[in-house]
Amino acid sequence: MEQQQPATALPPKHSAAPASEVDSRAKLKSLAAKSAEYLAVVTGGNKLDADDRTRIIKHTLENFDDYFNRGFLHYRKSVAEAEDFAAIEWTGQGSIIEDIMGRKFIDCLGGFGVYNMGIRHPRIIAAVESQLKRMPLSSQELLDPLRGFLAELLGELTPGDLQECFFINNGTDAVEGALKLARLYTKKTGFISTTGGFHGKSMGSLSVMGRAVYRKPFHPLLPNMHFVDFGDAKDLERELKKLHDLGEDIAGVILEPVQGEAGAVVPPDDYLPRARQLCDEYEVLLILDEVQTGMGRTGRNFACEHWNVCPDILCLGKALGGGVMPLSCFMSTPPIWRVLEDNPFLHSSTFGGNPLACAAGIAAINVMLEENLARQAEEKGRYLMKRLRSLQALYPEILKNVRGKGLLIGLEFADRFIGYRVAAGLFKRGVLVAGTLLSARTIRIEPALNISCDLLDKTLERLADTLQELDKQIEQEAKGK
Ligand SMILES: Cc1ncc(COP(=O)(O)O)c(C=O)c1O
Repeated sequence: MEQQQPATALPPKHSAAPASEVDSRAKLKSLAAKSAEYLAVVTGGNKLDADDRTRIIKHTLENFDDYFNRGFLHYRKSVAEAEDFAAIEWTGQGSIIEDIMGRKFIDCLGGFGVYNMGIRHPRIIAAVESQLKRMPLSSQELLDPLRGFLAELLGELTPGDLQECFFINNGTDAVEGALKLARLYTKKTGFISTTGGFHGKSMGSLSVMGRAVYRKPFHPLLPNMHFVDFGDAKDLERELKKLHDLGEDIAGVILEPVQGEAGAVVPPDDYLPRARQLCDEYEVLLILDEVQTGMGRTGRNFACEHWNVCPDILCLGKALGGGVMPLSCFMSTPPIWRVLEDNPFLHSSTFGGNPLACAAGIAAINVMLEENLARQAEEKGRYLMKRLRSLQALYPEILKNVRGKGLLIGLEFADRFIGYRVAAGLFKRGVLVAGTLLSARTIRIEPALNISCDLLDKTLERLADTLQELDKQIEQEAKGK
């Protein structure tokens, strides 16, 4: 999915001439009135009539165009191709998202891996609401019990000796922390990452990103970064040996156990165990980025458990906040963590591990374990994959590959335009899917892990219908040439 550039530059929003005091006061007054109007939408959202809703659609489109991100309006695969930019999200429950006009969509993209527990899971909402009434954000000085509760749960739940953790908000923050910790512990600077690897877009994470389009505009990135082919343990071995022989100092190897944004790419079964061995042999840390694969997504609580591999540093995010709060963390073992102990403020964050996020995280773990979401992902993934491969056999010229693990599934199409048309066809039939950030030809199927079998079957029926229609259209287009 290549990002489209806006056709024209945005007009300047503010005139350079200094406003008179009267003008300024009038403007502030008008903004206060507008904020009150918007606040009424937030608080009274359930009582809107049809005119209000139409007005909100208009405002949203104008505001995205003028003030937020014009490019984003146009580049989303499903809505752009379906020419339905005005689908304004309004509410959701479980695996159904409703737009402001009441149209319902089966959510098969799960917020790119955020909604493993579904949208607004009642237990997670209740936990956050209760905490909201007590203490929303941290005092920054007293100890917050929830942070300790969640750290203990994660320390006991994650594999091996990953007992220590630090909470933050985004996946990229978790990766930044992991890179800093690896440097601090090893006193080395370099990292090895993989082509197609995606770890976030802040400067450190971007430096280990395996795709030029996002890297190049921000050069120079962190120095001493090296890349190997994902899934190829021999390539990793060659690179480690070469860098060792050259005397380059390498702190760590960073990998996703299954590459998410590259299009649900699953490595060979011996890859992760071999990567672990090689990291030990060359005395570099193994960092696993499970921001997308963690929390049950691939059929285990953490994807590394498929291969019995324990990293030195683990990154989690996305679904860790239960689809209600932003929450991420990086975790490591006590001996590695010791380097942070002399000065615990070497790494800190104002909002990281705030009580609302931790309440959501505790509830998310509770739901994941009590609903056995990993097993649901494994079983439903197996079922989906089988049915999708039958569709691939029916339309091999359109659907070139079906791959993934658990409920992290990628459908690779003949080219990106076919991918867009499939996404749009599904959108028109009330199913939300999306592209992946690094593979323009791939659409992801990444629903909530507790999605019902009925909704999965409906999705498959609508996909079959879309492919059939597209097959006919392509045939006619070929005849017309
Ligand atoms: C594996 C992985 N790491 C890191 C990130 C970055 O997460 P965020 O967008 O929350 O910063 C993502 C996001 O898709 C991801 O898939």
